[in-house]
Amino acid sequence: MGANPPGKWTARTMKGVILAGGLGTRLYPLTKVTNKHLLPVYNKPMIYYSIQTLINAGITDILLVTGGNGAGDFLRLLGNGKEFGLQHLNYTYQEGEGGIAAALSLAEFFVQNEPVCVMLGDNIIERNIGQVVRAYEKQGKGAKILLKEVKDPQRFGVPVFDKDRILRIEEKPKVPKSPYAVTGIYCFDHDVFDIIRTLKPSARGELEITDVNNVYIERGLMTWDLLEGWWTDAGTFESLSLAGHLVSQTGTNTP
Ligand code: G1P
Repeated sequence: MGANPPGKWTARTMKGVILAGGLGTRLYPLTKVTNKHLLPVYNKPMIYYSIQTLINAGITDILLVTGGNGAGDFLRLLGNGKEFGLQHLNYTYQEGEGGIAAALSLAEFFVQNEPVCVMLGDNIIERNIGQVVRAYEKQGKGAKILLKEVKDPQRFGVPVFDKDRILRIEEKPKVPKSPYAVTGIYCFDHDVFDIIRTLKPSARGELEITDVNNVYIERGLMTWDLLEGWWTDAGTFESLSLAGHLVSQTGTNTP
């Protein structure tokens, strides 16, 4: 199967990958016997939000990468995605903890030569990202990230700007060079898998998604947008509780 020519991507070919593995150690003991992404965020399991976000953006060919505690429970909870109007959901299993980029590499068999929208399963957003995905499809190659201004950028990947051009992204910098977080929603072309193969583990022993993004930036193939509406991760006690609060106050597009 050949790659689509640039500019010929459509929502029909765009794949979705949700990364929902990991040990969730920052939420211990909540994650002692279950997977972080199965924990409740207000009135739904956390994983529901990312699935619905992709579907709302017109992406229905979705792979869930999971692992750690309770991996089998995703099947019991989601089955083939009927509750979301899907006919089929795809699953794969990550052994151990190798980082976000290592988890993404397990999606290569599924994504093949198509573009992919990757979402971290603990990221929850208010609005529909359909326009961003359409803009990326028009872009036709490279990558796209979504930024959000936050009070605590040191917790995240942080872009370093020269005017409106991103020079690089720094992962959890002690002294952030901008007030923006790189959110856990990424659009990549199929080169992402070759890029992951060139990565070396970071100081924390993981293959970092920030290193992947920096390769796209070096190649001049990265675009960015500001994410509209609220955004939070839900991987710490504070952010998990904030996520529940935001969902209960304003809701999201979830079913
Ligand atoms: C990860 C990424 C980071 C990004 C964040 C978004 O951090 O490494 O660049 O800003 O997700 O949620 P982690 O959740 O692994 O600490």
